[in-house]
Amino acid sequence: MMDRIKIFDTTLRDGEQAPGASMSAELKLDIAMQLAKLGVDNIEAGFPVSSPAQMKAVRLIAQNIKTTGVSALARAIDEDIDVAAEALKGAEHPLIHVFLATSPIHMQYKLKKDEDEVYSMAVQAVRHARNLSAQVEFSPEDATRSNPAFLMRVLEGVIDAGATIINIPDTVGYTTPSEFYSLIKRIMTEVSGIDRTTVSVHCHNDMGLAIANTISGLQAGARQAEVTVNGIGERAGNAALEELAMILNLRKDTFSFSTGINTRQIFTTSRMVANAINYPIPKNKAIVGENIFAHESGIHQDGVIKNRETYEIMSPETIGREHNDIVLGRHSGISGFKKRVKQLGFSLTKEEFKKIYPVFLNIADQKSEIFDEDIIAMVNDELGKKTDTMRMDFFNILSGNSGISTSTVRIESNNMVMQEAATGDGPISAIFNAIDRATGMHAVLEEFHIQAVSPGRQAIGEASVIISINGRKFSGKGASTNIMEASAKAYLNALNKSKIIGENNEEN
Ligand code: KIV
Ligand code: ZN
Repeated sequence: MMDRIKIFDTTLRDGEQAPGASMSAELKLDIAMQLAKLGVDNIEAGFPVSSPAQMKAVRLIAQNIKTTGVSALARAIDEDIDVAAEALKGAEHPLIHVFLATSPIHMQYKLKKDEDEVYSMAVQAVRHARNLSAQVEFSPEDATRSNPAFLMRVLEGVIDAGATIINIPDTVGYTTPSEFYSLIKRIMTEVSGIDRTTVSVHCHNDMGLAIANTISGLQAGARQAEVTVNGIGERAGNAALEELAMILNLRKDTFSFSTGINTRQIFTTSRMVANAINYPIPKNKAIVGENIFAHESGIHQDGVIKNRETYEIMSPETIGREHNDIVLGRHSGISGFKKRVKQLGFSLTKEEFKKIYPVFLNIADQKSEIFDEDIIAMVNDELGKKTDTMRMDFFNILSGNSGISTSTVRIESNNMVMQEAATGDGPISAIFNAIDRATGMHAVLEEFHIQAVSPGRQAIGEASVIISINGRKFSGKGASTNIMEASAKAYLNALNKSKIIGENNEEN
């Protein structure tokens, strides 16, 4: 008899806390829809009190996702809880997730409260949340570095106050599988009232143990796992959804757990999230990396030709990674192009397809074969511009191997045209300086990468940047067969994002 494990997805909340991973509310809704299709049990949509942008995203998701639970995060403060309840109005299955740190280091330095004060705050907050929502989850932040006796006391208090889910976070990725197993077992056996709740685990990956710890927690009796797509999240991230889902799927013999995940949606979801936040997936990433079904050595190739299972423990189809027998090129029709774009994790409207198809044909005219990477770069470039209010009309760069480079740009924003010139040590700094002048904005360039996305001299160049403005990071991407244009587009895309997300924050 298999035990059903609930998958609580926190890609849009904890995942979005990864540096530079901020997403617009509309993009979050697209991802939430895909998460619902993937079959997660709960979507943590955001932390509504933290900004109007977060509030908007939670609201949008609560109003549009009807088949899956939707949750919102709140500190153990009445105002946070009220705002979370407000954001969740309209949700079919709302859940308020209240958290409060219980470890000595967090209580002393961050909260500046003693154990009794933290206990009362937690209990009061859960009682308040329970008056507003039938489903309340409580997380003792930094549980794995908390005094176990105090942790148990708090858990008993919040269960009495009405918590329906008890989530045990390994906030800093400090625990080990055997230690976490013992902690969850102890909670399951010693906390009175625990049988009236669902026990959940939430593991971070600082030591690369997030998945191992999550599984240990499940083996000890937890029946909910909190995960993110591609393992994105604070620092080293969270336990990766696709890894957990596939481990439980492939090793039913060992674990005897089932989930509601449709594994055939994994690949599309993974690519969609990676594209949305401009976080490339490492080629050797478990389950969804590009190389997972690639075989280099002769012995391995020989084995796979004779029987794939000699070196593959799952088929590409299991995770929805279909074999592409259609080569895309200048003679490809729109339906072949549409099919591949969908497989690569994009959900485009009819209008967007109409806009992108001529771009595809234009590039296909220059290249004999279009690779998946070309399509990803092309679509990202178009989608990146979707919400951009500032667009580049043209640019010029004058640069050589000695002296100063000069650049001119013309940017259009809300029917206003801004044209400026600037110099720089090199062509990139010249064009970024010119964009700063034209837009009146200034950002610190934290990271800048440029690469050809596919083989050949006519390859598309894709630039990605991370900028920071007032300490907040924003990522941007741009693609073009001209690498200067790709760089300028990436920088402008990041500035646009900072405007959309930053302006929303200022309303707070
Ligand atoms: O890692 C953590 O402790 C969290 C909590 C808010 C659950 O993300
Ligand atoms: Zn977390």
